[in-house]
Amino acid sequence: MATDSPESSNEFATIHEIIRAARTNLTQGAWDYMAGASESETTLRRNRAAIDKLALKPRALRDIREIDASDTVLGMKLRIPVLLAPIGSLESFSPAEGAAASAKAAEAFDIIHMLSSRCSPGLEEVAAAANNNRIFQLYVRGDDKFEDDFARRAIEHGYNAFAVTIDTAVYSRRERDYANRFVKKWRVDISNDEQIWQAKYTWDNVKRFKDTHDIPLIMKGIATAEDAALCVEHGVDGIYISNHGGRQLDHGRGSMDVLPEVVAEAKGKATIIVDGGVLRGSDIVKAKALGADLVGIGRLQCASLAAGGMGAVVRALEILEQEIQISMGLSGATSWADLDPSCVTTSTTVAFPSVFSAHQMLSLNPNKY
Ligand SMILES: Cc1cc2nc3c(=O)[nH]c(=O)nc-3n(C[C@H](O)[C@H](O)[C@H](O)COP(=O)(O)O)c2cc1C
Repeated sequence: MATDSPESSNEFATIHEIIRAARTNLTQGAWDYMAGASESETTLRRNRAAIDKLALKPRALRDIREIDASDTVLGMKLRIPVLLAPIGSLESFSPAEGAAASAKAAEAFDIIHMLSSRCSPGLEEVAAAANNNRIFQLYVRGDDKFEDDFARRAIEHGYNAFAVTIDTAVYSRRERDYANRFVKKWRVDISNDEQIWQAKYTWDNVKRFKDTHDIPLIMKGIATAEDAALCVEHGVDGIYISNHGGRQLDHGRGSMDVLPEVVAEAKGKATIIVDGGVLRGSDIVKAKALGADLVGIGRLQCASLAAGGMGAVVRALEILEQEIQISMGLSGATSWADLDPSCVTTSTTVAFPSVFSAHQMLSLNPNKY
């Protein structure tokens, strides 16, 4: 079973305590920037609903004394198959260290941190801050030279893969941020000079990247089997199923609803990553059973940083690891290879989903959270 790491903030007994501390520490504006999503927040709630409606089908009477939740993904050996998803403005949640805190947590726990290009400190400083498994994520905000410069620097600084986020071709309306007058400056003018590069980014750019750079390429924001097939056709190494935590297209599907069709299209041809609403170890077990290679966590990372910096991120990961081992053991699995889609089935949804509804001891007053 999981043990406490020296880096862990073990005053937190549960994840709901971490989320509650984050709520106390953040201003309303910063909280809503993190917890909120676009327009009616329907995609956000579907992320959670898609996870909640899946039930695990336990197998009994197997020897499960040794449970191994470790994994190797994209050549990186991981204690659990978890990725700290790219978050712009991590410095809003960890003012002292910013993105370096997530990199250090990834090092302490042997998982991956994907660094956002909208973060500080930047690519070089974060690489110097920790010796972790690292991937760089780019928002395209310039021409080919802009992209090439980031790719070259990522390779030079030991990033193991390069992700391009492609679900932000147009900026969404995040109602909580508008109501709080908390809209980030770069989001105000939708047709500004920088954003236009992403609006015109197409599969031709993907081909050019693959022809130019020698680093595994991940497309983040894939949400259909059709686009997964195009990723495979273009030699993309990682297909990252995501709807940006419901922060971009509203009225989209929950990520876990998309996963099976992408797995059917691309399993074995590209590494499959998924995120959206993941807040429990059992969520990770369900994603792995359905064929994901790696599972990303976004808001839980932000809330943990706001609650207690890198130590609280490590604490959240310890709790996730323990929950993973419990779910695996009670499902009759001792390694990831023991899980497949027959281990999950669709059942009834148990709760009205909201941003942190997986943690039932929080007051789920929508005005508070
Ligand atoms: C505050 C915040 C900032 C984010 N910034 C980025 C970013 O810079 N780049 C990116 O690709 N995705 C970004 N995302 C999306 C996350 O990488 C991830 O896809 C999403 O948060 C997963 O859903 P979850 O928060 O329910 O775990 C951001 C999400 C949040 C909550």
